[in-house]
Amino acid sequence: MKKITLGTDGPVIGRIGLGLMGMSAFYTGATQDDEGAIRTIHRALELGVTFLDTAEIYGPYLNEELLARAIAGRRDQVVIATKFGTIRHSVDEKGGLDGSPANVRLSVEGSLRRLGTDHIDLYYQHRMDPSTPIEETVGALAELIAEGKILHYGLSEAAPATIRRAHAVHPVTALQTEYSLWSRDPETEILPTVRELGIGFVPYSPLGRGFLTGAIRSLDQLDDGDFRKTNPRFAGGNLDANMVIVEKVDAVAAQIGATPAQVALAWLLAQGDDIAPIPGTRRIVALEENVGADGVVLSSDQLEALDALQPAAGERYADMAPLSR
Ligand SMILES: NC(=O)c1ccc[n+]([C@@H]2O[C@H](COP(=O)([O-])OP(=O)(O)OC[C@H]3O[C@@H](n4cnc5c(N)ncnc54)[C@H](OP(=O)(O)O)[C@@H]3O)[C@@H](O)[C@H]2O)c1
Repeated sequence: MKKITLGTDGPVIGRIGLGLMGMSAFYTGATQDDEGAIRTIHRALELGVTFLDTAEIYGPYLNEELLARAIAGRRDQVVIATKFGTIRHSVDEKGGLDGSPANVRLSVEGSLRRLGTDHIDLYYQHRMDPSTPIEETVGALAELIAEGKILHYGLSEAAPATIRRAHAVHPVTALQTEYSLWSRDPETEILPTVRELGIGFVPYSPLGRGFLTGAIRSLDQLDDGDFRKTNPRFAGGNLDANMVIVEKVDAVAAQIGATPAQVALAWLLAQGDDIAPIPGTRRIVALEENVGADGVVLSSDQLEALDALQPAAGERYADMAPLSR
């Protein structure tokens, strides 16, 4: 697996990471097979995947605990990224945006304990908190860096102006934001901003929450509690409308003997060496397929055809408000 350095002075990682969210939350099958999920994480390490993505809100807490079990005795082989800011430990331990310094401190202690480690490699603010100036949140993160509790920090779904303000207080190592063949919005402002500042970019949901693999053809395949069942991209007829995107990805895949998932990831990797996607899967077979994208090279004609794909029908989230800060 090709390695890259995340940001200017961030961790060196295999450029394809592993998103752990779906093992414990939000998607069909979550929490059903923790032992299988742990085997998938172990296989990932064998394949050169070192960048493991979790968050306190996944479960909540279960995903960090699962990761701790998986990496027991292997801590030095992995780069742990986790996230805070969507559980208000300093108020009521409930969901809600909280980037206050007090909450940053309470959050990190919980994550360190659950992860069974004395340091987090990359600690992201999961969503921006409109009632706490970003400078205060980053001030608290800089203190954690000075104490060695976190090595680097990042932001998730932050707006360009917020990224600049944060970076002025302490350099941001990575921005994690949704980016894929059907979520192209970072290209206009976000990517130019992070590139100018030397910040690494981590595309989340790089497979379009599974849609771009072609595996999801009907909402009937999803459990009632699956986040996608009510997500605008999938619901209200948009799943069918968006199928034309899958067909085109599939056509490119057929040309080169790859799978649609590999094409979706290879397209992201072709956007630059500052990009580290974190496809999520619970399954070894899908993990192996996704890691295979490291060796898939798309021609300029194929990249052009993919660049020209029509925008997806439906917003990324039912409530987009927290994403524009
Ligand atoms: N910062 C944020 O706000 C945020 C938001 C969402 C996600 N994330 C992070 O990004 C990671 C990845 O995003 P994601 O999980 O939402 O979406 P994704 O990686 O685009 O897709 C994951 C889905 O695709 C399926 N899948 C994966 N590989 C496949 C393959 N080769 N063939 C067929 N199906 C396949 C998975 O199902 P199986 O498990 O059954 O394979 C899962 O349902 C998450 O795990 C999480 O760590 C961050």
